[in-house]
Amino acid sequence: MFNPELFVSESVESLRNEIKGRAVIACSGGVDSTVAAKLVEMAIHDKLMVVFVDTGFMRKNEAQNIEKMFQRMGFNYRIVRAADEFIAMLSGVTDPEQKRKLIGKKFIDVFERIAREFGAEYLVQGTIAPDWIESGGGLRDTIKSHHNVGGLPEQMKLKLVEPLRDLYKDEVRKIARYLGIETAERQPFPGPGLAIRILGEIDKERLEIVRAANAIVEEEVERFYVPEERPWQYFAVLLPIKSVGVHGDKRAYGYTVAVRMVESLDGMTAAYFKARHELLERIANRITTEVNSINRVVYDITNKPPGTIEWE
Ligand code: XMP
Repeated sequence: MFNPELFVSESVESLRNEIKGRAVIACSGGVDSTVAAKLVEMAIHDKLMVVFVDTGFMRKNEAQNIEKMFQRMGFNYRIVRAADEFIAMLSGVTDPEQKRKLIGKKFIDVFERIAREFGAEYLVQGTIAPDWIESGGGLRDTIKSHHNVGGLPEQMKLKLVEPLRDLYKDEVRKIARYLGIETAERQPFPGPGLAIRILGEIDKERLEIVRAANAIVEEEVERFYVPEERPWQYFAVLLPIKSVGVHGDKRAYGYTVAVRMVESLDGMTAAYFKARHELLERIANRITTEVNSINRVVYDITNKPPGTIEWE
């Protein structure tokens, strides 16, 4: 039986011995990076700089909420607001892998600058066992290569510290609960964020549309189901097509949003979530009334394989 209390005390002790200088961590607010940051902070306090890069592709109020959480946790932190830069960079880009590559590269540039300014010698990462264990097909490597700040240690000559390297997600969640970390139960959210939930080209208008629709999906699912009943992931995707609808007594063309909810253990395979129709109807009603220019909501009933969880 995994004992979070014992893990925390042993880990903090060994991190204190291991880390001899300043350290940085890029923290998304997700459970892995937040637990890793907390353990290192408990060991070396303000010698750890916790960095959150706001790419502009985060969910509604996410950057503000993360900053408040960092404050409550007593972190020495930096929030880098780089939304305009990231959005401008993606103008005209439609290929999903190109989006990921550009976002990943800029993220590293921004993070590297801060690490250098802080004089960091150590790089902390929230890597967990499934992130590096061979999965057989190599698919996981492909998935994860997009968002981990891979390559960073070689370029920056930082010593890598991975306090969660041997743990699985449920163990990390146990530590998170034990440490009272607020995002312990948060659903996974991809590093490139909403940028890969807008099919095709990104602009500010579409970003606002998908952000608003996604917030409604999250709110309604979280209202409808208690945490244990919720799907593994639940979100909205903005499709690059318009379809006909009625607005007053006129035909009007509007955007279509796909709602995706899946059950999964680790994201490698997934089953579409058999959501209750009352919930789906509420989501559709709210999105079409509250989000301008959306007149159609569809529910994705594809398993993985053959589909993927994300649409890009
Ligand atoms: P797919 O779409 O490949 O997603 O079935 C599997 C899991 O990985 C997440 N995902 C990503 N996470 N950067 C990330 O950090 C990415 O580029 C990325 N693409 C997919 C996805 O949300 C799901 O949990």
